[in-house]
Amino acid sequence: MPTFRIAVIAGDGIGKEVIPAGVAALEAATRGTDTSLAFTELPWGCEFYSKHGRMMDEDGFERLAKFDAIYLGALGFPGVSDVVSAGLILAIRQKFDQYVNLRPMRLLPGLTSPLGNRTAAEIDMICVRENSEGEYSGVGGRVHRGTPHEVAQQVGVFTRHGIERIVRYGFEVASKRPRKMLASATKSNALTHSMVLWDEVAEGVRTNYPSIDFRKYHVDALAARMVTHPQTLDVMVTSNLFGDILTDIGSAISGSLGIAPGANINPERTHPSMFEPIHGSAPDIAGKGIANPIGATWAGALMLEHLGRKDLHDKVLGAIERVVAGGKVRTPDLGGTSTTQDVAKAITSEI
Ligand code: NAD
Ligand code: IPM
Ligand code: MN
Repeated sequence: MPTFRIAVIAGDGIGKEVIPAGVAALEAATRGTDTSLAFTELPWGCEFYSKHGRMMDEDGFERLAKFDAIYLGALGFPGVSDVVSAGLILAIRQKFDQYVNLRPMRLLPGLTSPLGNRTAAEIDMICVRENSEGEYSGVGGRVHRGTPHEVAQQVGVFTRHGIERIVRYGFEVASKRPRKMLASATKSNALTHSMVLWDEVAEGVRTNYPSIDFRKYHVDALAARMVTHPQTLDVMVTSNLFGDILTDIGSAISGSLGIAPGANINPERTHPSMFEPIHGSAPDIAGKGIANPIGATWAGALMLEHLGRKDLHDKVLGAIERVVAGGKVRTPDLGGTSTTQDVAKAITSEI
């Protein structure tokens, strides 16, 4: 019986509320199957930082490297600099070469999009976000601090290798979906070095996928299109920052930021991949027990799929879909009055 070792970093704020919901769903989904998950909870995050002056233990990366996957809630809380807290997420993504950030954005049947009059079939996209370089390379610095001549430089690093592998992954995802469409987010009219290279590399990769309907959009126009014509979009491939912004739009038009999942994938499987909702720690609602656990639970489903159990992924997602379609058990972000635990219980009992 395969047992997968899962590192759980619930983290901060609502991360601590939504991750137990996700774990309960994963336990329910695997119960009675020949796959089991062994969860190890790691108390890392901003509280850990306030006690120890670091976001994780000194040997954190070596320990994480031994797991089959990482299940993350959210990191970040007022009182600790976002540079420090988000720094851990970015470090995990880079160190474990999780260069694909896969983010489905779907209007689940039964939910109302803030766009109005949209059906589930019209909002069904997936973002393949570059997750290791680009605007998030971390290269740069500040000099002449505190003086009128202070300078900050944040260098975007775009490599042919990095662009090539993410665009190829985008084409692969598109070729497995019925609509066979790939939209590339560019900005080569203004970012005349990095995004021109992006476009050139994409044109090259494209020749290997003649059956995919490939189009490039400037990212500003693509953002507008997600709102005005979401039905014309299927798979999109983006740089790191563009994907970050577009996926918050995508989840918002799908009903709530609390719904969308993310998978930080190391396709070569030389390092563990990491699964998390795309939202943050939501300090404004933390501790109230009303966070939507669907994004975290769906992220857990993506983890099952990555571990080779697409059937169990479908089981969890199916349960989420039935709870949402039932319309009775919903957290306030979806217009309901249910708690995180109510939704968690409804999902596990559906499973
Ligand atoms: P956020 O995603 O935490 O919150 C944005 C808004 O969405 C808030 O009004 C919040 O209440 C709402 N929201 C988010 N998730 C929800 C859920 N599951 N259910 C109901 N409502 C939900 O973004 P922010 O406010 O920009 O960031 C807060 C902190 O989280 C910052 O420290 C930031 O750096 C961090 N952050 C972490 C991650 C991560 O760990 N992956 C992601 C984004 C932001
Ligand atoms: C996300 C988050 C992170 C990002 C932050 C916390 C660095 O917003 O996962 O979308 O920008 O990638
Ligand atoms: Mn984000």
